[in-house]
Amino acid sequence: MTALDLVVMAAGKGTRMKSRLPKVLHRLAGRALIQHVIDTAAGLQARRVVVITGHGAEEVEGALTLSAQLAGTAVPAFARQEPQLGTGHAVQQAVPLLEDDGVTLILNGDVPLIGEPTLRELIASCAGRNLALLTVDMPDPTGYGRIVRSGDKVRAIVEHKDASAEQRRIHEIYTGVMAVPTPLLKRWLARLTNDNVQGEYYLTDIVKLAVADGCGVAAVKTADRIEVDGVNSPVQLAELERAYQLRQARILMEQGVRIVDPARFDVRGRLQCAQDVEIDINCVFEGEVSLGEGVSIGPNCVIANASIADGAVIHAFTHIDGKKAGVKVGARALVGPFARLRPGADLGPDVHIGNFVEVKNSTLARGAKANHLAYIGDSEVGERVNYGAGSITANYDGANKLRTVIEADVHVGSNCVLVAPVTVGRGGTVGAGSVITRDTPPQALSIARGKQVSIANWQRPAKGAGRSK
Ligand code: UD1
Ligand code: MG
Repeated sequence: MTALDLVVMAAGKGTRMKSRLPKVLHRLAGRALIQHVIDTAAGLQARRVVVITGHGAEEVEGALTLSAQLAGTAVPAFARQEPQLGTGHAVQQAVPLLEDDGVTLILNGDVPLIGEPTLRELIASCAGRNLALLTVDMPDPTGYGRIVRSGDKVRAIVEHKDASAEQRRIHEIYTGVMAVPTPLLKRWLARLTNDNVQGEYYLTDIVKLAVADGCGVAAVKTADRIEVDGVNSPVQLAELERAYQLRQARILMEQGVRIVDPARFDVRGRLQCAQDVEIDINCVFEGEVSLGEGVSIGPNCVIANASIADGAVIHAFTHIDGKKAGVKVGARALVGPFARLRPGADLGPDVHIGNFVEVKNSTLARGAKANHLAYIGDSEVGERVNYGAGSITANYDGANKLRTVIEADVHVGSNCVLVAPVTVGRGGTVGAGSVITRDTPPQALSIARGKQVSIANWQRPAKGAGRSK
């Protein structure tokens, strides 16, 4: 097998995005456009990845370096292109970083959905000796480089602006992706000129040079427009986002997932579903999410980095964000509506978390319930605990996060404050409105609030009276 090197072009300005952010850093499905390309290319096990940067170089290089470090993968090499004199000039900047053996695969940083199988096919067509071009038939080819053939054989790519009226009628266009034997690439790049309408060094001119050198030119035509669609404007970004999401939805539905409306469904990461999962409208899944058998997700939920076990029900408007620590929801648990589960929330089986309840960095054992308006943070909650409406753990003293332990079968009344560090003993009851600052013994009723008094025959002030001495 020939060694593979990758060049990803990302120096262009992206004028039509009308944004301060470099185009390739705009997000599709939660990931930067260029990150999609790099992640897909990772499957090809390339020897080296060279990213050509120019406009917004520091931001692009910084973002890719950070994401590689976070993922524990190799940081790509960067080659700066300043000024930007065309796509051929862009690839010339990578030449010193490319070894002489092997094949170079050239990709565009703003074509995010290119697929690994297509790239493999292209590399196979290159076979270490041919120039292999990825092409597609475009209903409206305006603006693209046309694939000019004589008979079957590819003769050249002619850029739209340089094309004759006859050539402009060609619908087969160059997608911006090619695989080239590296020594030939280097030879051809050295011979490029900017003698064209735009005064640029066109990478696409190497096709003519290949033909003149008698090198085989292979065109691999994809039928899948979405994988070669570029992003140039916010409208195109949104269109491609929808196309991508619809595709994710279809894949899941084909596996049996019931999605109420695939047009109102978003996965920004990876969603794994077991059998008989139902997902209502307007849900967003981010990072790594897994849904067990029979899980039901109500409308308008945001779920990030969480694993939800069999039979759990997530009611409408619930926000689950596990970030790094993750969130676990146990089997048959009921969560929401309007619940919030934060990093480190770990709910056991049959736990109930109701409306306006927030849980952070806490474990709730089997059958524990917090049904209304409550906060549980940095806590360990035992089996069958009932945690009353309006109660909170005061887990932060202004400097440190402190732990609360609520042992099994405790009943915490409404509107209590459990001031950590504190332990509520097994089977105990905390009276409503209590501020608990010390550990409570098992089985006891603990009350810590002002005693109720009643003053008989109390006279309320009357209007106009009471001002005089
Ligand atoms: C290019 C192709 C065209 C093809 C089209 C597909 C050339 C000359 N033409 O045209 O045949 O149909 O892509 O989308 O290659 N870039 C740089 N440095 C530069 C110029 C561009 O890094 O100096 C990068 C851009 O950031 C972008 C990519 O190269 O990622 C393509 O550049 P773009 O200007 O979009 O090329 P097109 O004119 O669209
Ligand atoms: Mg373009």
